[in-house]
Amino acid sequence: MNRSVFQNSVGIKLPIIQAPMAGIQGGAMAAAVANAGGLGSIPCAMLSPDGIVKEIEAFKSAIVNPHAPLNLNFFCHQTPNPSEAEQRAWKDLLAPYFNEFCIDPASIAEGPGRSPFDDISLAIVQAHRPAVVSFHFGLPDPYFVKAIQSNGALVLSSATTVNEGLWLQERGVDAIIAQGLEAGGHRGIFLDADSKVSLALDLTTQVSSFALVPQMVRATRLPVIAAGGIADALGVKAMLDLGACVAQVGTAYMLCDEATTSQLHRRALASPEAQHTALTNLFTGRPARGIVNRIMRELGPINSTVPRFPLATSAIAPLRSAAEKHGSGDFSALWSGQNTSGCKAIGAEQLTKELAALVILR
Ligand SMILES: Cc1cc2nc3c(=O)[nH]c(=O)nc-3n(C[C@H](O)[C@H](O)[C@H](O)COP(=O)(O)O)c2cc1C
Repeated sequence: MNRSVFQNSVGIKLPIIQAPMAGIQGGAMAAAVANAGGLGSIPCAMLSPDGIVKEIEAFKSAIVNPHAPLNLNFFCHQTPNPSEAEQRAWKDLLAPYFNEFCIDPASIAEGPGRSPFDDISLAIVQAHRPAVVSFHFGLPDPYFVKAIQSNGALVLSSATTVNEGLWLQERGVDAIIAQGLEAGGHRGIFLDADSKVSLALDLTTQVSSFALVPQMVRATRLPVIAAGGIADALGVKAMLDLGACVAQVGTAYMLCDEATTSQLHRRALASPEAQHTALTNLFTGRPARGIVNRIMRELGPINSTVPRFPLATSAIAPLRSAAEKHGSGDFSALWSGQNTSGCKAIGAEQLTKELAALVILR
């Protein structure tokens, strides 16, 4: 599809989507991006229903144009039934660290940590009518997709391979987010990610944005949104030259004034350590890209003892809190993409304008 047609259908002046980043930003950042003419996103996976509504209100109260479009982003995984054996093996692996920090593993509260799209999410979408709803990890039940579209929103989802893009196209999405291997945070991989035993092998299907975007453009008839490793105006232009309609940028926004990125995480992103990232399943059970730290070095970034997503989260959380109290990110998920060169401690409105500087449609 022609780029200007797609931008018009979303209602944006600039071909920039601020990537939804759970735990790192909310409505304030989405509004700043909207005020520049891009598409701001609110990540909902780690928010309660009230929390989602609060962020939508924050967005609405900070936008200059009351009709500015918004993207609500959800995960759509199947939450597995907890397995006692799986949790025991995981806690046994972490036992030396629990000892080090005097944490009693029996005191750890179990909980899924991330929620998938459900009826309550649909009710929020129907009440607040965002212009776009995007998904990570495939799509929810077809009934949900139809209900969202008939409510007036475009449905987007991440694809990490051409096969995933074709799968999404068959199921009626309006555009495909081609997420290259450089991307920070969780990989949207969903067709190959369930066979935990061979996760390391599944990850060999993952390719860079430079390889993925043009192949996705050729193989599908949908608008393609490029994500992964895009850090500046030249990167945005390169992805549009390769056939993408819009660029989705995440990591570059993580130092922005509106980001809720912790001080520890900000320091890591701005340090030479950020030159070394890896895909790891240690923090949630699914592969995600973060800055290499002690636990990734000691247990290996991909470890087959880790419980299925998102059930790994609860056991590692107290280690993170204990280490962070001493100013250490040894057990923190320091999500980051491979290209941190565009991270700037400025307002997200300004960063959005800078990202779009070489591709503004006249
Ligand atoms: C800190 C962080 C959190 C993320 N959280 C989400 C999320 O909640 N939902 C989602 O669809 N993608 C999430 N992503 C992935 C982004 O949508 C996007 O694919 C990625 O940021 C693009 O690559 P880049 O980080 O190199 O710009 C996250 C990325 C980061 C860096």
